[in-house]
Amino acid sequence: MIELLNVHKAFGRHKVLDGVSFQVPEGSSLVIMGPSGTGKSVLLKHIIGLLRPDQGDVIVEGRSVPSLTDRELRSLRRDMGYLFQHGALINWLSVFDNVALPLRETTRLSETEVRERVDQVLEMVQLLDHGKKLPSEISGGMQKRVGLARALVTQPRLILYDEPEAGLDPGMSISISNVIRELQAKLNMTSVVVTHSMTCARLTGDRLAVFDQGRFIAEGVPDEVFQSDHPRVRDFLGDSPALQT
Ligand SMILES: Nc1ncnc2c1ncn2[C@@H]1O[C@H](COP(=O)(O)OP(=O)(O)OP(=O)(O)O)[C@@H](O)[C@H]1O
Ligand SMILES: [Mg+2]
Repeated sequence: MIELLNVHKAFGRHKVLDGVSFQVPEGSSLVIMGPSGTGKSVLLKHIIGLLRPDQGDVIVEGRSVPSLTDRELRSLRRDMGYLFQHGALINWLSVFDNVALPLRETTRLSETEVRERVDQVLEMVQLLDHGKKLPSEISGGMQKRVGLARALVTQPRLILYDEPEAGLDPGMSISISNVIRELQAKLNMTSVVVTHSMTCARLTGDRLAVFDQGRFIAEGVPDEVFQSDHPRVRDFLGDSPALQT
């Protein structure tokens, strides 16, 4: 379970989170959509403890994240996968070694077991034949999928995806969204997905929240939110939801 309680965050005089509260029950997924530059990535970083709230609390599996020690935070992060918005791959490691990294750092699996697990997730993201390449030798969309494989490889109970579909063509975006949905069901993962794609939102979200000007302005099951007549939700989604991807 992930819970935010009245979280406020400002950078200098720039207020980014203005009293955000929500709950993601165990095994369910919340999708967050909203205009660029408004604070969605900042919000995810609070859940994983990379940023601390100025006010309010972030509770993950019953623990208050802002008050964890560095050691406790490292242990929490072992249970949590994070797909960074901008890949964050290590340039000098191969695709295979990038994906293997969390296993080598946080588990005592043998090299054979590591290979099995890495190959399994590389297959899910359709990159099994590219394990030996360096990040600079593959496309941006492929790098995004390597980031996804790395976030999934430890089979975390909690997972945060920052724009998993960004930079992918429509077919690949659907296929990645399906991978996310299938894993949620199979492993009973609790997840938060930030996305700009309505298709990805529909496929991966049990619930959908629209974030704007520091707080959620609409929340519900995806189709309900897409039909919302809230003026800022309509402005953001456009007037023809059926035409959006
Ligand atoms: N560490 C930081 N220091 C200062 N300002 C920051 C920091 N991180 C984010 N911001 C600011 O917070 C605001 C929200 O940024 P954020 O990255 O969360 O946007 P976003 O909603 O994820 O946008 P996008 O959809 O484009 O990814 C931006 O104005 C950004 O400049
Ligand atoms: Mg972002």
